[in-house]
Amino acid sequence: MSYQNIIVSIENEIALVTVNRPKKLNALNQETIRELHGAFKEVERDKTVKVAILTGSGEKAFVAGADIAEFADFSVKEGKELAAQGQKMLFDFIENLSKPVIAAVNGFALGGGLELAMACHFRVASDTAKLGLPEVSLGVIPGYGGTQRLPQLVGKGRAMEMIMTAGMIGAPTALEYGLVNHVVPQEELLPLAQKLAQKITNNSSVAIGHAIKAINAGFMNTVNGYETEVSAFGECFGTDDFAEGTTAFLEKRKAHFPGS
Ligand code: COA
Repeated sequence: MSYQNIIVSIENEIALVTVNRPKKLNALNQETIRELHGAFKEVERDKTVKVAILTGSGEKAFVAGADIAEFADFSVKEGKELAAQGQKMLFDFIENLSKPVIAAVNGFALGGGLELAMACHFRVASDTAKLGLPEVSLGVIPGYGGTQRLPQLVGKGRAMEMIMTAGMIGAPTALEYGLVNHVVPQEELLPLAQKLAQKITNNSSVAIGHAIKAINAGFMNTVNGYETEVSAFGECFGTDDFAEGTTAFLEKRKAHFPGS
């Protein structure tokens, strides 16, 4: 299968999936989401693959979010569809894959980028990584599962603070919060992810698939939260704050929210 926005390679039963839009800091446009879905579908199907690692190309970003340019003029209906389709096609899909997916966070993991890392089964990061959910600074909320998975991983209070301040945390804080499992220098990140993946390949793939299912089952009671997020995310698209937030980003200026 050939891709425009991602690179997939397979070695020693480990698939390496790299988001490859470095000029846009690997921002997730719709095409990239479709391609990632295709790649992970293939990971699930391919009997020679036991574990996948997901990372971003270049040294600056894992994924700097959903592509703001693509959704800036969406309506409420389109906003809801964007969140619902994205969650189903990629974020929930990765979380429920029967094979482990490790996120190697090599730089900015913002908005949809952090949501993507959080949909993976666990995360390792470079010491240069910066993580955050800046959506409210754009007049919108996280729409790819961020309001649900961030509190699961770091606790409600920390998630509230991160989402409300729209700020970024560095790798040491992410480690302290339990958002990432290990932090290493940039050049050691992929070797570490590969070492962990290799260790996993020694174990029973069938048992690991069942373990993923059982662990995820414990969080199923949040299913209504995801629906609420889709709906609230969509509502943001009808506000003047959203129009101002996204326009300000694209015009490279600070937003002044009218507060409608
Ligand atoms: N969507 C679309 N384009 C994005 C993007 C995103 N989420 N994040 C970065 N880009 C683009 C920039 O528009 C810029 O494109 P250009 O060169 O054509 O102007 C390019 O990637 C490089 O980004 P730039 O902002 O110049 O880099 P920087 O080092 O000054 O800042 C960030 C880096 C990550 C702080 C900044 O890009 C940023 O705030 N991005 C948006 C993060 C965000 O809000 N994500 C959540 C979206 S819901």
